[in-house]
Amino acid sequence: MPTYIVLLGPPGVGKGTQAKVLAEQTGLAHISSGELFRENTKKNTELGKLAKSYMDRGELVPDDVTIAMIRDRFTRSDCQKGAILDGFPRTPVQADALAELLKEFGGQVDVVPLITADDEVLIERLSGRWTCRANGHVFHARFNPPQKDGVCDLDGSELYQRDDDKAETVKRRIQVYQDQTAPLIAYYRSKGSLVEINGAQPIDRVTADLLAAIRHHHD
Ligand code: AP5
Repeated sequence: MPTYIVLLGPPGVGKGTQAKVLAEQTGLAHISSGELFRENTKKNTELGKLAKSYMDRGELVPDDVTIAMIRDRFTRSDCQKGAILDGFPRTPVQADALAELLKEFGGQVDVVPLITADDEVLIERLSGRWTCRANGHVFHARFNPPQKDGVCDLDGSELYQRDDDKAETVKRRIQVYQDQTAPLIAYYRSKGSLVEINGAQPIDRVTADLLAAIRHHHD
């Protein structure tokens, strides 16, 4: 049965960084709602323009638009084994929609790692983040620097700083997480799927804890 892993956690805690490694290690697809919105923004689609108007303010894109985009992503062939969900669901309405999508496409939410770190850690990570234009690979000026400034190690494309990583927008994003996404912690805990992971450790330690949690849930 297809397996879905939902990564929960505040902005900047390392969901995207870890999702990429976990996808490689598990063979599951990596689905990042934020990256899908940014791809649409880059292509200047109607969805991209709409999403950008919310993202630039640190607000969530409306549920109906987000759910339709994820449904479309589920139809791609790389999802047959399941996926690492990075940034979706982000509201109780989206969590219910995910349950419906899994009835339609088959599969189940296996484990929900909740990655946590203090706000100061999140702010430091987001203020030093550099993202690659071509594929969304993520670096950090101090914690994970690229070999050459401004250039992605993996595909050679330009690195840029996200518009929503400005200090004011980051504060709003953290608040929105507390208000709208944190209720999912109780939701998944009540289903027995939640596992807490200390995201304040170095990247490879967080990866090791995540892989152990995934394996443990499978056994
Ligand atoms: P999205 O792109 O999902 O952003 P986010 O959840 O705010 O998460 P980030 O990408 O900022 O952080 P991350 O946890 O992935 O951390 P990362 O690995 O990059 O969403 C953006 C916007 O899109 C939202 O605000 C909203 O508007 C919209 N949106 C998206 N999904 C939506 C949905 N479902 N519904 C409605 N709207 C939606 O790491 C951060 C930095 O730290 C990097 O520089 C990295 O190198 C570094 N780092 C990572 N781990 C470590 C570590 N262990 N030690 C040291 N440094 C580390």
